[in-house]
Amino acid sequence: MSIYSRILGTGSYLPPETVTNDDLAARLALDGIETSDAWIVERTGIRERHFAAAGVGSVDLGEHAARRAIDAAGLSPQDVDLIVVATSTPDMIFPSNAALIQARLGCPGGAVFDVQAVCAGFIYALSVADQFVRSGMARNALVIGTEVFSQILDFSDRGTCVLFGDGAGAVVLGPSDTPGVVASALHGDGRQAGILRTPGRVCGGKVTGHPFLEMDGQAVFKQAVHVLENVAREVLGKAGRSGDEVDWMVPHQANIRIMLHTAKKLGIPPERVVQTVAWHGNTSAASIPLALDTAVRAGQIRRGQTLLLEAVGGGLTWGAALVDY
Ligand code: ACO
Repeated sequence: MSIYSRILGTGSYLPPETVTNDDLAARLALDGIETSDAWIVERTGIRERHFAAAGVGSVDLGEHAARRAIDAAGLSPQDVDLIVVATSTPDMIFPSNAALIQARLGCPGGAVFDVQAVCAGFIYALSVADQFVRSGMARNALVIGTEVFSQILDFSDRGTCVLFGDGAGAVVLGPSDTPGVVASALHGDGRQAGILRTPGRVCGGKVTGHPFLEMDGQAVFKQAVHVLENVAREVLGKAGRSGDEVDWMVPHQANIRIMLHTAKKLGIPPERVVQTVAWHGNTSAASIPLALDTAVRAGQIRRGQTLLLEAVGGGLTWGAALVDY
């Protein structure tokens, strides 16, 4: 039995509509809400994001990303015996996006479930899938992050609606005699549920509570820089490695200031941080696999390099993984 899992292939997908900061500012101005490209770029590093068309869901985006990852792995959907999807914007209450994507791919039989850890969801899903492959419970695991956050944004709240975008990314994990996913760590603190949430739910056929994203941006910022540094140090410690040995940091693309602050604390220079937030915005659970696939296909990330993935999200949830790619 192999004792490690490794990434066999990556894939991603963005819906075609691009919305620049100026496009968004013009849209908000129709309702008398002021924002600007300069404010958004200075505070977040975001220049544009993609929004899915009406009727397009996270299953649609996730299926495209999954097919690309399976192709890149040199496998066919029938080789996949576990699908774990990280999403906070699933198509349905149930069944899971994982079940719906499995049906689209035409590979019934393996285990399928979603993981709900918001922006840390991909790290959670990757770590769970890694345990399955290491234990022999699954052979080839498809791990997908897919989101349509545009569908839960309150466009009357300029403090949140400028931050997020839609997209999907995926990896295929398979068994290996060498690492792979070298170390991972997951954490949560439910006492902080109130600083970042979408509290609405369906009850008795109606939506009750606020069905749009709410955030205390400054509280999230303070927590993010604290927990990300700690969890990154934790996985480096578990792996017996230092920041110098990280070829690429692939952080959750929430905000350029959070990403570069964490990298600096770890002694990782900005040129070794994969940065896609300018073009994708914050795509929550999709952001890490989307950034990873973008850097792999651009020839930045190469086989044999060491990657540090880290994320924080609503819950509060946070985690990191050290990966030999
Ligand atoms: N355009 C123009 N002005 C704005 C906008 C906007 N889009 N949004 C807020 N402002 C104004 C505010 O109204 C406020 O004006 P005032 O001083 O007259 O009241 C001023 O800008 C400052 O507002 P703050 O909320 O204090 O702005 P801050 O500097 O904290 O930046 C931001 C906001 C970017 C959200 C920041 O808090 C942040 O990065 N937080 C981290 C949260 C994050 O990244 N969340 C992503 C989701 S969570 C995750 O993925 C981990």
